[in-house]
Formats: sequence, structure tokens, C-alpha cells
Amino acid sequence: TLLPPFERNLAYPPVLQPVGTRGLTDYYQITQRAANVEIVPGLQTQIYGYNGITPGPTIVQRRGRTTVVRQINALPETTVHPDQTYRTTTGTHLHGNASAPQFDGWAEDVTAPGEGKDYVYPNEQDARMLWYHDHAVHHTANNAYMGLAGLYVTRDEIEDRLPIPKGRYELPLVLKDLIVAEDGSLLFDNGGESSLFGDIVTVNGVPWPRVAVEPRKYTLRFLNASVSRGYNLALSTGDPFTVIGHDGGLDPSPNDVTSFRIGMAERYEVVVDFANRRGQQVVLRNLGLPNNVDFPQTDVVMRFDVGDTVTDPTNNEVPAQLNPSDHPFSPMNLTEQDAVRTRVFEFGRNGGLWTIGVDGGPGRIWDPNRVDANPALGDVEIWEFTNNSGGWFHPIHTHLIDFKILSRDGGSPHPYEGGPKDVAYVGEGETVRVIARFGPERGKYMMHCHNLVHEDHDMMTQFEVGSGGP
Ligand code: C2O
Ligand code: CU
Repeated sequence: TLLPPFERNLAYPPVLQPVGTRGLTDYYQITQRAANVEIVPGLQTQIYGYNGITPGPTIVQRRGRTTVVRQINALPETTVHPDQTYRTTTGTHLHGNASAPQFDGWAEDVTAPGEGKDYVYPNEQDARMLWYHDHAVHHTANNAYMGLAGLYVTRDEIEDRLPIPKGRYELPLVLKDLIVAEDGSLLFDNGGESSLFGDIVTVNGVPWPRVAVEPRKYTLRFLNASVSRGYNLALSTGDPFTVIGHDGGLDPSPNDVTSFRIGMAERYEVVVDFANRRGQQVVLRNLGLPNNVDFPQTDVVMRFDVGDTVTDPTNNEVPAQLNPSDHPFSPMNLTEQDAVRTRVFEFGRNGGLWTIGVDGGPGRIWDPNRVDANPALGDVEIWEFTNNSGGWFHPIHTHLIDFKILSRDGGSPHPYEGGPKDVAYVGEGETVRVIARFGPERGKYMMHCHNLVHEDHDMMTQFEVGSGGP
């Protein structure tokens, strides 16, 4: 659908208030329900939203406190989907959190319409922007596409002390592409179980928005919540992004780049300085990536309209040292010598299904009864991800842990991906080596491609921490 870009103002999901607090625990309640929104002017589009909105309400939490979220499934009993009609069960994963296994949204742990589940989340990791989203086995793509995704932000003293742009100078930006059919419904066209590429690019649910900014520095916190689309982001002015953080929070030190690719589920925190752009319009562009399907306006994302006046000149710096990374499960200080073993995971395609092969074995699909890796609690391992599936990229996500990217195709990682991560962009023909310390929880956790069409068909496996040797 060709809408004129930059006509609507950027909006932000509301911050959710707790329904109660006791000691160090904050209690929240969220109802998953269907609602109508207007994405294309004049058309009503049915979505599934946490509290009926998408992105869902943002949960903000301090490190050291505990969050309990009661998720109530009040969605329609069945979902009519182009591929299949299914019972609308859901499961919620807090992506980027070291949650205990029973609260991690394990794929087969689902909640039926009319039921609810309480999820308990510790918040002991470095401050970061996480997101919660649906993870119901085989229906994740449609449930998330319908709108079941929201932000969860943690704060800590390391971040508090830094003079980086914050408060109203920190903008959460959730990118997602979609297709609106002529009757207003969201069209799920997954191209024969390969990928879903929409022609409308939304930010925080608004198609191609604009936002008024002051001529100073801003922190932009990107999440790519798309089902299958990766973006290669750049500014129309050619100005740099100063990358300060990733999936796992603040980087040890900043890096300047003029563009970066962001696969599905990746988070990038970048500082942009609009000080020299007074009175100008700066467009956030998508330079495109191989094997994504582009449409006439998928090369632009949003626009920043820079004003003349700075109302608050404080917190306008990026220090050379950001994060000491001294958390016991931070991957940033690990080196190859710390690893007790290496495992190789090969991402492939076979007979229309997406597969994962382990240590040279055959490519296999999701099986809830099979465990493919069992690091001991506290072990440091190197995992090598290789993509031999032809013309597709796979953003590979590990639950529970943050990792550091050691190398790409034997060389250095990209300058923009040096921080703590839980998703690795494994491009066409690429090999990516990552290192992590496994813990702090024991139990079964998933690892999968975050192209949600691939995940559902069935590029997912699990590892089990603490069940013994290699
Ligand atoms: Cu964001 Cu297993 O997912
Ligand atoms: Cu994939």
C-alpha cells in the first residue's frame, strides 16, 4: 500500500503501571486481546495486542528487583490464518532475560484462550532494552505479526552514571513491516514458508512516522520486531551513528559507523547528533539487504525534523568507556582460551523445512524431546554458526545467555557488533563464532532462527544447562 511517508507523528507505547508492589517485587497484569487499529487511513485493521495495543505497553524495571507478569489470554478461540486455522494458544518469552526455564516461554509451554500464567522475571543483568513477544510453537510468526510484542526496559547504576542522552532524549524505535489487505486485515503472505516481507514499514506501530527533535544528541534504541525483514540503516545526511549498546546492554566502548544491518530481534543503541542539522529534515533510510523483497517505500523508515532550540543541554556526551562488563555472565571479557569446547551448528534447508545440524550431523527440525547441547553450569563454550542454506540470512538467537561475537568468516566482526548480544546475524554463506558463559540458570532453553517463518518451520533446537558432559 503506497501511503505518503512522514505524515504521521511518531508515538510511543505507554509505560505499564504495576498492579501491586511487595518488598522487592512488582506485579503486573496484561491481557492479550484482539483490537482494531487504523494503520491505513480509512481502514480498520484487527490486531492481537498485549492490553489490546501493539507494540504492547512498556515495562520498566530496576536491576535487583523482581517482576511478576500475569499474562491472560483473552484472544479469540481460533485464528483463521491463510495457511491453517489454529487454536489461539500463546506463550510469552522475555527476550534477553535470564529467566528460569518455566518462565522462559519454552515453545511447548502454552496458555489456551481463557487461561492465564504468571511469569517471574529476575532483573540481575546489566541494564538493557529487552522485549517480550509470543513464542507459541508453530504459531509464533502469526501471533507476533498480529501484534503480540512489547518492550521491557531495565535500568541500573552503570547507565545512570553515564552522561549519555536519556529521558526524553532517548527514543525507543520498534521497526516492523506489514501488509494491509484491501479489507483492512493484516495479510500474512509467507511466500511458501520462506519469509514474510511487508510493503509498509512501521515504527512503534506508525507507518513511516516523523518526529520533531532538538539540535543535540539523542539515543535511538532500535528493535527490529519484523517477522523476516532485515534493515541496513543509514541517515540521509551521511552523519554517523555512534553505537553504544546492543541486545545485552551497553558496550565496553562506543564505535562510529555510517550504516549497520539489523536482523530480526536485534537491538542497537546508537547516539545521533543533530547539532549541525538545525532546521533540516533527516531521513532514516534502509539501504536494503540481499534476499529481502523490497517495495517502493521500504527504502525509507522515518524522518527526524530538527528544530532550532535545545531546551536541555545536559547528558549530551558519549564517554570513551561505557560499561566495565564485570557481571559474572557478561561475555565481553571472555577469550578463546576460556572455552572448554566448541560446538558447530549448521543452518540449512531440506524438503521445504528449515533445519539445524549439530557438529556435522544431519540437519534436523524442532523436537521437544531432543537436547542438542548440554554445557555444564558456568562452562564457557564457543558456538560456531554456519549458514549453508543458499539465499537466506538467519538471525540466530540463544535464550538465557549473552554472547560476544569472536569472528565472522575467520575475520573480525563488523565494527558495529562488538557488544553483548543474544542474536547473531548469520548472513548468506557466513560463519559466525560466538563465545558465552552458560548460566546462571540450569535447564532447557531454546536456540533458533528469529526469522519467525523459519522458526515455525522448524529451525529451532534446545540446549540444557547443567545436565552433564559434552
Ligand atoms: Cu525473541 Cu526464542 O525469541
Ligand atoms: Cu532463518
